[in-house]
Amino acid sequence: MKAKIVLLPGDGIGPEVTYAARDVLVAVAGRFGHRFEFESFDVGGVAIDAHGDPLPEATFSAARHSDAVLLGAVGGPRWEDPRIKRRPEQGLLSLRSGLQVYANLRPVKVWASLADLSPLKRERVLGVDMMVVRELTGGIYFGAPKFREALSGGGQRAVDTLEYTDGEVRRVAKMAFELARGRRHKVTSVDKANVLESSRLWRQVVNEVAVEYPGLVLEHRLVDSAAMQLIMQAETFDVIVTENMFGDILTDEAAVIAGSLGLLPSASLGDKGPGLFEPIHGSAPDIAGKGIANPIGAILSAAMLCRYGLHLPEEAQVIEAACERAVAAGARTGDLGGKATTVDVTRAVVELVGG
Ligand code: NAD
Ligand code: IPM
Ligand code: MN
Repeated sequence: MKAKIVLLPGDGIGPEVTYAARDVLVAVAGRFGHRFEFESFDVGGVAIDAHGDPLPEATFSAARHSDAVLLGAVGGPRWEDPRIKRRPEQGLLSLRSGLQVYANLRPVKVWASLADLSPLKRERVLGVDMMVVRELTGGIYFGAPKFREALSGGGQRAVDTLEYTDGEVRRVAKMAFELARGRRHKVTSVDKANVLESSRLWRQVVNEVAVEYPGLVLEHRLVDSAAMQLIMQAETFDVIVTENMFGDILTDEAAVIAGSLGLLPSASLGDKGPGLFEPIHGSAPDIAGKGIANPIGAILSAAMLCRYGLHLPEEAQVIEAACERAVAAGARTGDLGGKATTVDVTRAVVELVGG
């Protein structure tokens, strides 16, 4: 097949891991006889520097007209001054909402060869295999009003709004139930319904959607208790569906179970148009430019791009198997306790993919 893939490397280690993932896509295209065309555009801090805008129109337009978008990471200390008007992260949020990719799939799977890397005991993490479905274009990230103001008596006030419509909850819940059908038939909905009105609506709508999926088990869990359960008994989770910020926090926590933040990929999907594929980690300014970033999260995001973006499940599987084998054979960056560089790991994966 022919596919147009837009690359948005972004900031910090973003370019290092994005081009690693591209190399793997080139290898898989070679092996299966596909023609993938790549074009890179600016997003985030580099786009602010070059165009004064974290999501320039040319970038968004290219992304929207592509078959799939592969993003690295945005942000960094250069753009962290709170007085700055335009932030790199705004570019990413506008891209997600502009592409209407409301469901962010974040799989967390523990490879046996890495089970000893987690600070948790081996037996606690072995067999963990879950899919977190994070709502991505609503909730407290996007609710209005959102502002800061000076108070007349001195001091300041800042406001963020956690807002959901039933429609926003319904579509992401459906996505979670559909995914559970192809897995272990269990959905855990995570909310804060003992405190938040938006969570009570969330829970009600998820219950309504569950009626359409009689073969599946649904449980509700409060987010604080879910955070604990994730450490105590992560293997009991199959599909988790949750609000935007809860999902953001719980998946960084879940990365500890897998062994490193650098391992986890994601796919952001909507009802139509291209999907957005990105590792869940950030621009890692502390290691940027050193050639030691773990490219596996980005490479596994490229596998998700094949599976969910281009409907090429076999190609996805080949990439995932190559990653697992390469890491098991010792191709490990510093975060996994190894000495390999980004290029070493990428080369090992490319070799196993063949092509
Ligand atoms: P981070 O994810 O960038 O880094 C956290 C820690 O994990 C660091 O010690 C880093 O070195 C390590 N790490 C992350 N990815 C790694 C990899 N692939 N290989 C090896 N080690 C890795 O989080 P942070 O430091 O809180 O954020 C830095 C910047 O990134 C901020 O500006 C933040 O807004 C941004 N950010 C962007 C995204 C995104 O673009 N999707 C996600 C998270 C954070
Ligand atoms: C992520 C990041 C982003 C988020 C930031 C950079 C806007 O943490 O992709 O997990 O909070 O969604
Ligand atoms: Mn995050």
